[in-house]
Amino acid sequence: METARDSDFRLDGKVIVMTGAAGILGSSAVMRFLDAGARVCALDLSSQVLERLGPDHDCLLKLAVDVTDKTSLRIAQEQLHERWGTADVLFNNAATKSENFFAPFEDFPLEDWNEVMGVNLTGAMLCCQVFGAPMAQLGRGAVVNTLSIYGIVAPDQRIYEGSEYLGRPINTPAIYSASKAGLWGLTKYLASYWGPRGVRVNAVTPGGVFSGQNQIFVHNYSQRVPLNRMASSRDIVHAMTFLASDASAYVNGHNLVIDGGWTVW
Ligand SMILES: NC(=O)c1ccc[n+]([C@@H]2O[C@H](COP(=O)([O-])OP(=O)(O)OC[C@H]3O[C@@H](n4cnc5c(N)ncnc54)[C@H](O)[C@@H]3O)[C@@H](O)[C@H]2O)c1
Repeated sequence: METARDSDFRLDGKVIVMTGAAGILGSSAVMRFLDAGARVCALDLSSQVLERLGPDHDCLLKLAVDVTDKTSLRIAQEQLHERWGTADVLFNNAATKSENFFAPFEDFPLEDWNEVMGVNLTGAMLCCQVFGAPMAQLGRGAVVNTLSIYGIVAPDQRIYEGSEYLGRPINTPAIYSASKAGLWGLTKYLASYWGPRGVRVNAVTPGGVFSGQNQIFVHNYSQRVPLNRMASSRDIVHAMTFLASDASAYVNGHNLVIDGGWTVW
């Protein structure tokens, strides 16, 4: 009889690549993965933002890359390979907000559309080519893409009245929904394409994470959530850890939604 073990949920010995590693969810996930025994290759735009993760050590390799630049990704992949070999898990977690990110749909500039799509979707595809393809060659691995509830359902425009983040009015633009919905398409495609070669490809869909939004937003948002609160990074990171671990060995092409029930109605 096969026994399920606690150790299946750990990440000992796994090499994990995380993009957007210096951000709110990325940094929290990196700390959790290290705690669970992984070696983490943390990728983000600059060494300066990566300083948030503290100094490099035996289990942490920080590299500055732009996920839209395949050459910079290839260089990072070579550095990773030299240090620890082929990755076991790739997290496509980077996302950007362009300069006019909150502009109304009717006037949303094409440059901003292309920039956000370039990071959120094309960047993830490039990371899959650079870090995922060697996994498929070896016949093992996992990819996890970070989506959003707004790739599944439309935003409720009513919650944005009076809402602010970092002193600015906020909303969710169409490019965010479109890029995340596209990333779900890529997730399913690769789950079937690489599944036979032992690479699982899944997604996590976080609901809104509290990170200092004003009270009006927190109130409006929480009212729409059956659990009546915003998410914490911790809520999301546990699900990410599961998808990286051997406990999810038979999970492929799945979207693990952690939204307190936002998408049930
Ligand atoms: N925070 C939330 O409420 C929430 C909710 C749903 C989904 N998400 C998704 O979770 C992921 C992480 O979100 P977050 O809140 O931590 O965001 P964040 O803005 O704090 O972090 C994103 C990181 O991506 C990096 N990045 C941007 N462009 C890049 C590029 N070209 N190359 C490399 N790195 C780049 C940024 O420097 C930043 O550190 C994103 O995909 C986001 O869409 C977040």
